[in-house]
Amino acid sequence: MKKKILDLIKKKDKQKIVVLTAYSKNVASILDKHCDIILVGDSLGSVLYNFKSTRQVTLETMINHSKSVRLGIKKSLMVVDMPYNTYRNPSEALKNSRLVMKETKCDAVKLEGGKKIIPIVKRLIKNKIPVMGHVGILPQTDKKFTFKGKKLKESVRLIKDTKLLENAGVFSIVLECVETKLSKKISNHIKIPTIGIGSSVNCDGQVLVIDDLTGLSQSKLKFVKKFVDITKMIENGVKKFKSEVLKKQFPKAKHSFSK
Ligand code: KIV
Repeated sequence: MKKKILDLIKKKDKQKIVVLTAYSKNVASILDKHCDIILVGDSLGSVLYNFKSTRQVTLETMINHSKSVRLGIKKSLMVVDMPYNTYRNPSEALKNSRLVMKETKCDAVKLEGGKKIIPIVKRLIKNKIPVMGHVGILPQTDKKFTFKGKKLKESVRLIKDTKLLENAGVFSIVLECVETKLSKKISNHIKIPTIGIGSSVNCDGQVLVIDDLTGLSQSKLKFVKKFVDITKMIENGVKKFKSEVLKKQFPKAKHSFSK
């Protein structure tokens, strides 16, 4: 059965929420059986295109990958990242989010930021576009990618930002690299689920980039855990293929056509 945003909110304090990124149909269809949310993250810029920053990701790229992901999803909620410079003001955000919703048939969009983006979030929600928030490290605009909540001022700001986002109507908030105790404070302070990445077990759910989880990306980031080594598995398959081709063992008659 197709998951609903309301069911996701109800999971808070009952069951952890499982979120992963996907950028294409085949991967999405594997994740769909196990995830609450599949996120088409603009992390695809670095993961797939070797971009230095997510700022280089375009709306067109996000839409194309999202269309592919959509084909693999039957039940999970699908959230699409709005890329950099596509939501600078409420009308730009509404125009571009409408396009993303229409073209990709996603369930929601995700925007990075706190207080500054509140008028934008409100405009989208007023126009029936569900929004997921994203605070902590903001890859689209931050200059330094160090964890958040070291200083009191920063912690207070994050607590305020998450409350503002909740009041503006977002259904969930990603906390990226937020200090452990602060993640707990924020998660207890708001009624909507927090989804952590590098933000400890104190969040209501967890998200990882799929290529990091599978070992395809060779990521060395502190918060990444390689749950399986797909690179090795692919390599083994490729080696076997090569060996059989060289020894003329593949293809066999059963893989060939005869009259
Ligand atoms: O772009 C992305 O994949 C993300 C997640 C890491 C939360 O925003």
